[in-house]
Amino acid sequence: MDIKLEPVRDPKDLHTQIFINNEFVDSVSGRHFPTINPVTGKTFCDVSEGDKSIVTLEMGKPFLQAFYETMWSAAILRYYAGFADKVGGKTIPVDGDHFCYTRHEPVGVCGHIIPWNYPVSMFTWKVGPALACGCTAVVKPAEQTPLAALHLAALCKEVGFPPGVVNVVPGYGPTAGAALTAHPDVDKVAFTGSTEVGKLILQASGATNIKRTSLELGGKSPNVIMDDADLDMAVRFAHEAVMENAGQCCMAGSRTFVHEKIYDQFVAKSRELAKERLSMTGDPFDLKTKQGPQVDEDQYKKILEMIESGKKDGAKLESGGAAVGGDGYFIQPTVFSGVTDNMRIAKEEIFGPVQQIFKFKTLDEAIERANSSQYGLGAAIFTKSIENAMMFTQGIRAGTVWVNLYLILSPQAPFGGFKMSGLGRELGEYSMSLYQEVKTVIMKIPQKNS
Ligand code: NAI
Ligand code: MG
Repeated sequence: MDIKLEPVRDPKDLHTQIFINNEFVDSVSGRHFPTINPVTGKTFCDVSEGDKSIVTLEMGKPFLQAFYETMWSAAILRYYAGFADKVGGKTIPVDGDHFCYTRHEPVGVCGHIIPWNYPVSMFTWKVGPALACGCTAVVKPAEQTPLAALHLAALCKEVGFPPGVVNVVPGYGPTAGAALTAHPDVDKVAFTGSTEVGKLILQASGATNIKRTSLELGGKSPNVIMDDADLDMAVRFAHEAVMENAGQCCMAGSRTFVHEKIYDQFVAKSRELAKERLSMTGDPFDLKTKQGPQVDEDQYKKILEMIESGKKDGAKLESGGAAVGGDGYFIQPTVFSGVTDNMRIAKEEIFGPVQQIFKFKTLDEAIERANSSQYGLGAAIFTKSIENAMMFTQGIRAGTVWVNLYLILSPQAPFGGFKMSGLGRELGEYSMSLYQEVKTVIMKIPQKNS
């Protein structure tokens, strides 16, 4: 396939209004909010702000990675398009002279509140299965990244979606987002973002019309490296596991547990990789760039504050540990060794390019420590032993467990969290059940002599 890479750089080429009923319109309030380019820290366009009534530019994601995200998103839509004519119920033999079957009906109007870290794929994870089940969608993109969702809305119209099937309402969380979660005509909310807001969404559901709710929240995912692992491979995967998307990834492998026998070697190699990555940190439109800026000033400040807490708590700084300097929200790829379980950087989600390396002696110990977290999104083990792999995959409390790899997802494979990492499973066939109500029909079977 011949693919042309054409980044949009000019604000004139972007949609900046609310998309309702297949039309771009101004908000009722007439208010706008700024979209800031994280490379410069400056506003480059204003977007209509809904309240109650293109990725590199707005998020700073390196262009090639933004392109891969778009291709992956297309694969997800293709996968769910295949489900649209395969939604069916069951015929169930029941007690008595009765005929019983189920219908899987659309849940109704779905509010999709999505974050800024994967603005295209988060749209498709949610809208894809919703449409395949016959639902309609109102998408509230993150305030940092409204343009990607508005562009997707324009494409929905271009390919002939009927009016009202996909709508996009940009705006802030506590206004536009909260209005969706409280709205009596919204039947379901699917959310990806912080655990803090996930709790608010559950409360809003309970306080209004018991909306069906699915949540994909934070993580502090463990990545366990055994002493029999292929060392170079494990170092590289562990590095990418936490640095991917400048660390702004819910499933980031942000707790790297390394067996004591290979600990020093592992740390030294991880330090080198972080230094190499620093030389590829910069302009996200440069095709050689691996790491762009953090999405906004809030995230940038939070990450730098967490790095300072790591230094204060006595972790050993191996590499990075500061902002890159100059314009924009760039942070040096950072590696800490000697991290212990009680430190803040060991417990809280950093959501930045910061690797924490812990030391362990036995697999049992590693599993216990890996599980002692409020989160349970991803987990991985690197080992050549099938016994270690089996012990780990059974003992760990996480929604996805990788063996000898990390960050691998597929449209067919379900994804979601144990514990405070979420509720429900997205992707795969499992996601379909989030968008359906099951209706049970029981009919009397006429008797011959009655
Ligand atoms: P957030 O959870 O506040 O924002 C995510 C989405 O929720 C956005 O669309 C936002 O407008 C919306 N939102 C915010 N408050 C809301 C409310 N009261 N009602 C309804 N919707 C609301 O996340 P934020 O502030 O961007 O990042 C904070 C932290 O959350 C990050 O540092 C990271 O730790 C975590 N996070 C996790 C993500 C994931 O992929 N699981 C994605 C983004 C953030
Ligand atoms: Mg927030």
